[in-house]
Amino acid sequence: PQPWRHVCGFRSRSSSAVMAEEAKKLAAYAAVDNHIQNNQVVGVGSGSTIVYAVDRLAERVRQEKLNIVCVPTSFQARQLILKHGLSLSDLDRHPELDVAIDGADEVDASLTLIKGGGGCLTQEKIVAGCAKHFIVIADYRKDSKALGQQWKKGVPVEVIPIAYVPVSRAIARRFGGEAVLRMAVSKAGPVVTDNSNFILDWKFEHAQNWKEVNTAIKMIPGVVETGLFVGMAERVYFGMEDGSVKIR
Ligand code: 5RP
Repeated sequence: PQPWRHVCGFRSRSSSAVMAEEAKKLAAYAAVDNHIQNNQVVGVGSGSTIVYAVDRLAERVRQEKLNIVCVPTSFQARQLILKHGLSLSDLDRHPELDVAIDGADEVDASLTLIKGGGGCLTQEKIVAGCAKHFIVIADYRKDSKALGQQWKKGVPVEVIPIAYVPVSRAIARRFGGEAVLRMAVSKAGPVVTDNSNFILDWKFEHAQNWKEVNTAIKMIPGVVETGLFVGMAERVYFGMEDGSVKIR
């Protein structure tokens, strides 16, 4: 039997969900084992895949008595760090990180990423930008030849709340598609980020020069950050359906 069918706690879920969870874990464990060493400052990303990375990091810190300092990218990451009793810091005290590890919503052939499915893109980009090495962990569903082939929800863009309508119109006018305000699951109101901003999900119509698009969107007044990570990821670990890990 394949090991992922026996992962504790996931047995009642569909087999594809089980496989994806085990694939996240495989990627996360491999990245932590390959890139974390003693005396490092580590950026901790956000999402569901990073949970496995922090599990493994905490295990290694305990077993190998590593001296690791963690800088979070979100409230969620901060809670994870605290829950595991890891050493919590910030960019004031540690503006230079040795490595940042984070998930992604989609990764193309040249390691351009869409991030921000969880709405933490701004802190994630800041922390990744402060790290010597930015390592991405993902399951096989995030692997894509060209952005938009896998992740159908578009590129997240964090905006200052009063600007969401003009920014949405400016993006659609300039680049096509539609930039839609992200609503809370309850539909009672918009999603509000850790920075008290809103998120637009820009559903683009065709492939673009992502570097230029990223820069141009950032120039629109009211835009805080985009979920396009261009030229930032050094390595991506994909956990695969067959239990292997693919490194790009
Ligand atoms: C949050 C992110 C996440 O890293 C991204 O959404 C991937 O999440 P998951 O690991 O749950 O698939 O960018 O803003």
